[in-house]
Amino acid sequence: MLKTVQAIAQNLQKFVTFRTLQTSASLQHDSLFVHRDTPEDNPDIKFEFTPENKKRAEAILAIYPEGHKRAAMIPLLDLAQRQYGWLPISAMHHVAEILNLPKMRVYEVATFYTMFMRKPTGKYHVQVCTTTPCWLRGSDEILEACKKTLQIGVGETSKDMMWTLSEVECLGACVNAPMIQINDDYYEDLTVKDTEEILADLKNDKKPAPGPRSGRYAAEPIGEPTSLKGDPPGPGFGVRADL
Ligand code: FES
Repeated sequence: MLKTVQAIAQNLQKFVTFRTLQTSASLQHDSLFVHRDTPEDNPDIKFEFTPENKKRAEAILAIYPEGHKRAAMIPLLDLAQRQYGWLPISAMHHVAEILNLPKMRVYEVATFYTMFMRKPTGKYHVQVCTTTPCWLRGSDEILEACKKTLQIGVGETSKDMMWTLSEVECLGACVNAPMIQINDDYYEDLTVKDTEEILADLKNDKKPAPGPRSGRYAAEPIGEPTSLKGDPPGPGFGVRADL
């Protein structure tokens, strides 16, 4: 009898699997996705659009037909963020009130898009793209230069509230990699020296010219074109003559 029980126990052990603990770091954006009331961000802090922004909000709402006003949510959140510098919970509540929506609908949008800053943000928000094309073209060095110049790490804001540094995914300017976005402007085709100069200019209250730093106007080839140099072929190009 004892032998039978032992045999059953041994067989059972074969089927017992152990769940392992995952030890690799989870990927996280540096934006805050969970709200915790803080002295600077709680529902008791009043948020209202300024008279000029109220007019802008009305103009935005007028674009959308009755029954589809909720489509104005992103532009209204953006307007609120531009007014306040970042997006506190009371601004989200105000947008929910304007659109006559449950607050949760606004939380869902504001926490999904990383362009909405859910914590106090510096005057200059420096976003360094580190996705593959930018990475292949040296975004690691650009990020290091930003950290070193600004003396802050990724996801941090300087004490004087001048700078916030973020590492972001592709900003759609891969042809001009590596690049960074500072507030609404793109700075492209960067070297470490360019990056340091741009940040130094902003520190000195000078506005550096946005765009490529390589001398090209946009995303055209550097130097002479290397392809697509002839006249464009007409319709049927490359199709078999007997078809
Ligand atoms: S990978 Fe950097 S802009 Fe696309």
